[in-house]
Amino acid sequence: MSGMTGDRRSFLAQAGGLLTVPLLGGVLVEGAAARVRRVAAAAAGRSPEEVAADEDFWFPVQQAFAVDRSLINLNNGGVSPAPESVMSAVRRHDAYSNHAPAKTAWRDLRPSVENVRTRLAASFGADREEIAIVRNATEALDNVLFGVDLAPGDEVVTTDQDYGSMLSALEHRVARHGIVLKKVKPPTPSPSADALVRIFAEALTDRTKLVLVCHVVNLTGQIFPIREICRIAHARGVRVLVDGAHSFAHFPFTRDDLDCDFFGTSLHKWLNAPIGSGMLYVKREHVKGLWPLFGQLAVGADDVRKFESYGTYPVGDRLAIAEALTFHEALGADRKAARLRYLRDRWVERLKDDPRVRLHAAPNDVDSCAIATVGVEGVDSGALGRHLMRAHRIVTTTIGHEDVDGVRVTPGIYTTLREVDLFADAMLHVLEHGIDES
Ligand SMILES: Cc1ncc(COP(=O)(O)O)c(C=O)c1O
Repeated sequence: MSGMTGDRRSFLAQAGGLLTVPLLGGVLVEGAAARVRRVAAAAAGRSPEEVAADEDFWFPVQQAFAVDRSLINLNNGGVSPAPESVMSAVRRHDAYSNHAPAKTAWRDLRPSVENVRTRLAASFGADREEIAIVRNATEALDNVLFGVDLAPGDEVVTTDQDYGSMLSALEHRVARHGIVLKKVKPPTPSPSADALVRIFAEALTDRTKLVLVCHVVNLTGQIFPIREICRIAHARGVRVLVDGAHSFAHFPFTRDDLDCDFFGTSLHKWLNAPIGSGMLYVKREHVKGLWPLFGQLAVGADDVRKFESYGTYPVGDRLAIAEALTFHEALGADRKAARLRYLRDRWVERLKDDPRVRLHAAPNDVDSCAIATVGVEGVDSGALGRHLMRAHRIVTTTIGHEDVDGVRVTPGIYTTLREVDLFADAMLHVLEHGIDES
């Protein structure tokens, strides 16, 4: 915590004005989202970068999550915890659902899912008739990968760094429908956005029908220039499916910034929604012609709900997405991204000048946000990941790919500076002393 700065004084004055209790008392009595909204109000008029470095702002945000602080969780890219406001909504909705489910869950609660759709659509900058609420990014993306009409010989262009399950879905179409799968190789680290566009421009042909591209590559954290890739694809009449598992609610953008045809994302990563929630965007004009994974609605239904019609589901999980949106909006997408970059830079700055340290995407505002993968020359990345866990209780994920070798480090918005510092300390120790696996 900093000393009693002017910012801190005004923060406390505003907190007191609203609650007539000091900060810590406020932490105890307020709901998490209300607390975050209050600190966000205290940040009004200050730049996101300034707020990113204000620990008084971030303390209540950290406290909004009931996480286990005896572990240092730096794999928030895999799946993230939800704040207590979200978890409590799930519990409330589940309890009510269970009273007389056919009435309370189906008839009373389920209609409110439409409000969640409206709010997700507003956050993404789309029409609500273009948004399906699904269980994860896999379900969102598979609706498109299995649902687009493709004839034998039709080509799908993607990269060899796209997510394994999505590549596997396309391999199924190769085996079943005789399509051609072309995997381009992104330069890693990429020298420029143009270099990432060029690999697609060179791969598209008259037979290409679909491009699958990650907005953020999970292996490296590299952000791809989606709008430009869409522009060159559309110029050839090719549709673009964006794997946005790691981008939605991670840093600010809207549909119009991408101009894609389809976008699939998890909501349990960067939105901190309940585990098992995702979103599919289908451009309005494509809804009718895209086959759904599920057969609940009529053939050829012009209704985006056909992509989410998988029968009975826990309605509380879908409704609590509204709480996650409230939390996210109260925090502010700009402030969130700035804080995540601040956390990333805090450890990267301490390691990057060592000649044995390798980063796989440039740590700047264009190429990456929270996610960075770091390798140490001469140190096996699997052993490094195991060592961080065993010796320091630090959770990372090891990346072993032809072009990417390291541990992926992903703080969340609830991560403290101390936790990031402990990770950097542990890495400096490895650089100096190596790893003893005995
Ligand atoms: C790039 C990418 N796409 C898709 C997925 C699948 O996400 P989910 O587990 O939500 O289906 C992941 C998961 O980490 C991912 O990193």
